[in-house]
Amino acid sequence: MSARRARVGILISGRGSNMKALVEGSHAPDCPYEVVLVASNNPDAPGIAYARDQGIATFAQSHKGIDRAAFDALIARALRDAEVEWVALAGYMRLLSGEFIAGWAGRIVNIHPSLLPAYRGLDTHARALAAGETRHGCTVHFVTPELDAGPVVAQSEVPVLAVDTPQTLETRVLDAEHRLYPRALADLILAHHDKR
Ligand code: GRF
Repeated sequence: MSARRARVGILISGRGSNMKALVEGSHAPDCPYEVVLVASNNPDAPGIAYARDQGIATFAQSHKGIDRAAFDALIARALRDAEVEWVALAGYMRLLSGEFIAGWAGRIVNIHPSLLPAYRGLDTHARALAAGETRHGCTVHFVTPELDAGPVVAQSEVPVLAVDTPQTLETRVLDAEHRLYPRALADLILAHHDKR
C-alpha cells in the first residue's frame, strides 16, 4: 500500500452513525483512506457536531430555497476545495444531480438498509417485515442518478426474527452497516489503487 491515503468526503443529513463508523475505521493504522470533509444539507445534523469535535472540516448549509443544481454545485465546490477523491453518502437524504455524480464517477458510494435490489427507497425494515422476509441486511453500492440502483459493492445479511419490530430490525441492520461500510470502502479504494 502506498503511504498516501485516499481523501474521502462524507455527505450526511442527520444522525451520522455510519459517518462515525467510517471515521473510526479510518483510525486503523492500515486504513487506506482518511476523512477530510463532512458535508450536510442540514446545519443541525448531530453528525456535524461530531465531525467538528473530531477536528474534521465541515460544510453545513441548508438546501432550502436553493435549486438542486446550484446546491449540488456548492457541495461539489466544498469537496473540490478539500481535494476529495472519494465521496461516501451516509444517510444523505437528498437526490444528487447527474452532474454532481459524474464528477466522482466510480468513486461515489452509498449505504442502503436493505439487500438491494430489494427494497429501494424508504421504510425498508417495515416493508421487509410486512413481506415476511427471513433475511434482510444492508448494501454498499455505487451511486448513479437512479435512486439506490447503482452496482452493488458489498452486502451484509442479518436474520429476521419472528419477534422483530421495524425498530429491532433497524438496530440489527444498523450494526451490520457500521461493520460493512468502513471495510467495503477500504477494499474498494485498495482495489482501485491496485489497478492504477
Ligand atoms: C442508515 O440506515 C443508512 O443505511 C441510510 O440512512 C441511515 C442513516 O443513518 N441510508 P446514520 O445517519 O448513518 O446514523
